Amino acid sequence: MGFTRRAAVAVVGVAALLSATACGGDDSGSSSKNVEVFTWWADGGEKAGLDGLVAQFGTDCAGFTFQNGAIAGGAGANAKQVLASRLQQNDPPDTFQAHAGAELLDYIDAGQVEDLSADYSTWGLKQAFPQGLIDNLTVDGKIYSVPANIHRANVVWSNKKVLADAGITTDPKDLAEFLAALDKLKAKGIKAPLAIGKDWTQLMLFESVLITDLGAEKFTGLWKGTTDWTDPLVTKSINDFKTLLTYTNADRDALDWTDAEKLVMDGKAGYQLMGDWEAADLDAKSFTDYAYFTFPGNGTTFQWLADSFVLPKGAKNPDGTKCWLKTVGSAAGQKAFNTKKGSIPARTDASPADYPKYQQAAMADWKSATQVPSCAHGSACSQGWQGAANSALGAFSTKQDVAGLQTALVAAAKQYAGK
Ligand code: GAL
Repeated sequence: MGFTRRAAVAVVGVAALLSATACGGDDSGSSSKNVEVFTWWADGGEKAGLDGLVAQFGTDCAGFTFQNGAIAGGAGANAKQVLASRLQQNDPPDTFQAHAGAELLDYIDAGQVEDLSADYSTWGLKQAFPQGLIDNLTVDGKIYSVPANIHRANVVWSNKKVLADAGITTDPKDLAEFLAALDKLKAKGIKAPLAIGKDWTQLMLFESVLITDLGAEKFTGLWKGTTDWTDPLVTKSINDFKTLLTYTNADRDALDWTDAEKLVMDGKAGYQLMGDWEAADLDAKSFTDYAYFTFPGNGTTFQWLADSFVLPKGAKNPDGTKCWLKTVGSAAGQKAFNTKKGSIPARTDASPADYPKYQQAAMADWKSATQVPSCAHGSACSQGWQGAANSALGAFSTKQDVAGLQTALVAAAKQYAGK
């Protein structure tokens, strides 16, 4: 397998990102063999997962060449802006990463992605994935993407030694116990008892608090229009979230998730709420002294999201893209990817024994848990709604205005719900 690796772009201004994309040694289109795969998996566990998939693609699709279109930045903070601009200019990559659910719907509604229903039949994929996930990829009976995985968002990661040194011996089961543990870390002089990064990572923490305070059904209702954002329990959640922020690092708004993760690894933080790509990233960085538990008060709720890949309209190499998509959906592709990515396979025929310990636990939880979607990672809300929520959380981080945040969230729901 040979593949061209376009340098992953560091976190810089969008203008610079756009120009890097436009002239960064781009050889897409110069050869019909190239398949440009656009993701934000540029480093650590994310890249390890992508590399696994690329190796399988090399075996399955020897006639094609993987071209790395990755643009660094957690949750696609930079990549999505570049992608939007390229789609607008009719310059799509051969395939791109899109979250199952509302985010994918954005691309379907805009007519930017092709129907893959016939390929699903040819590749035998209809039976391979759970029906609920298929429903999140389908519009008017047509299926538009191939899921690579299922991730869990509502997980707290910890540094075992830091907790032990502070006398914390059990996992907190509710917010009161969590605050008590955070107080112990504070008393020990830990810089950031709860490490966090910028806007979207704050939205993740806030969503976890909402799940605790509203329960799974009412939480899901916030995105489906059956729970009002004016609900007093939302006010309670904002206040609880505000309290949690007092235990976080002051430089949060300047950090990506991996910077916050480093605080945990370096013993400067006790905990971090993050999706289970963190398992893979800690493993890739050879940090072994970590533990994990579901966010306190979330009970058996599994906040899910799924990365999927699409065939964009106007892709230069549709045959190559289809070979990539077939690999993504295959048992071998899912194993090569998910064993390194921290996620569990979207396919239901995987064998847990093939997976690291964390994923074995997640696979068992997925079967019995109550599933709720994530706005920060596109399964619950559209990109417009997500952007509005991220800005509202970003403003709250500075101003700490409870009523202001709730007003902004009510307005975002009014503007974007059901669209
Ligand atoms: C999510 C994505 C994950 C992981 C994470 C952090 O949106 O679904 O696969 O990459 O962002 O960047």
